[in-house]
Amino acid sequence: MKKLFKISGFVLLFIVIVIGGLVSYVKTALPNVGEAQPVKINYTPDLVERGKYPANHVVLCVDCHSTRDWTKFSGPLTPGTLGKGGERFDQALGFPGVYYSKNITPKGIGRYTDGELYRVITTGVTKEGKAMFPVMPYPYYSKLDPNDVNAIIAYIRSFDPIDNNPPESASDFPMNIIINMIPKKAEGGTRPDAANTLAYGAYLVNACACRECHTPVKQGQIIPELAFSGGREFMLYSGGIVRSSNITASTETGIGNWSEEAFINRFKSYVDSNYKPQNVEKGAFNTLMPWTMYGGMTRTDLAAIYAYLHSMPAKENAVIKFTPPGADVAKK
Ligand code: HEC
Ligand code: HEC
Repeated sequence: MKKLFKISGFVLLFIVIVIGGLVSYVKTALPNVGEAQPVKINYTPDLVERGKYPANHVVLCVDCHSTRDWTKFSGPLTPGTLGKGGERFDQALGFPGVYYSKNITPKGIGRYTDGELYRVITTGVTKEGKAMFPVMPYPYYSKLDPNDVNAIIAYIRSFDPIDNNPPESASDFPMNIIINMIPKKAEGGTRPDAANTLAYGAYLVNACACRECHTPVKQGQIIPELAFSGGREFMLYSGGIVRSSNITASTETGIGNWSEEAFINRFKSYVDSNYKPQNVEKGAFNTLMPWTMYGGMTRTDLAAIYAYLHSMPAKENAVIKFTPPGADVAKK
């Protein structure tokens, strides 16, 4: 018996050492995505212009890095806050910590070299070597065409400088350790020709990270088999829960019955000259779906997204879009 205790004592000690070693490895040796490349971007007005479209209408850098007005439908940007940062993503919204988007005007990212910006956008590792939590969907940006990333960098470098110093982000335990294992080396990609509709649509859907919001999650991770079937829950600061729609080709519970025309027009209705964002009362339906930003996409791009979504298997998932505050629901 005594011997058994001794042995299990050793085993325990061994386990403690192994776990301790692993934790300190993860905390000190990771993230390891390699050095930032010593690239230098050739800033031309043309390149800045090319970055403006994806940053505002596709990858939506401006969405999280500006102040959004949640008293209005779909949270339009508050003028004069472009790139200012400071948006808070916390436990109340379902995140494993408190994360603040950063100031990406020259006052915030002036310290970054072009190569370091490229690295943080495509791998989630900051200039200082810190792993970021993928509130910013950098695992998707990892697959962007380097030409697109460079154009986006050129564009954000052209923002008016704004003085703003958002607080540091902090993950709760155990995410404060796991976080170091998330960043991976950038995969890179090539933007397909727009004539190659399905491949081009797939590229855009990845760049927009539609999948991230439109897939149910388990412990903060999306469930790959259920991709695009919707039902991911988002707590609204104004109260209530909004759930993403099923955007698979299911004719019962998805968008299988939508024509291409109807799909495109739905987005375009939010940038129509008559459109004025409605005021949203506290506790009333609002959405995280960035309609007004995506609405600026070209009809060609929206058609490619439609074609790609319709090319994928239909999945059944009936989603209840909105539950007002106080309704009797099991909170996840
Ligand atoms: C869904 C929200 C979201 C989107 C979209 C987004 N970001 Fe971020 N970004 C964040 C958050 C949150 C942080 C801070 C994360 C942290 O501290 O862990 C961040 C951090 C950064 C940083 C690091 C800044 C610093 O001071 O270290 C840069 C640079 C950046 N983002 C640029 C971009 C660019 C460029 C795009 C578009 C390609 C983009 N972001 C899209 C949320 C977002
Ligand atoms: C930040 C999260 C988020 C992102 C990113 C996002 N969506 Fe959504 N989407 C939602 C939510 C939440 C809803 C449900 C509320 C609503 O209708 O606005 C929704 C609704 C929709 C609807 C309406 C479906 C219906 O039945 O009325 C369509 C279509 C859609 N999204 C397509 C897309 C596509 C395509 C992309 C990528 C280009 C995308 N979404 C990216 C959150 C998101």
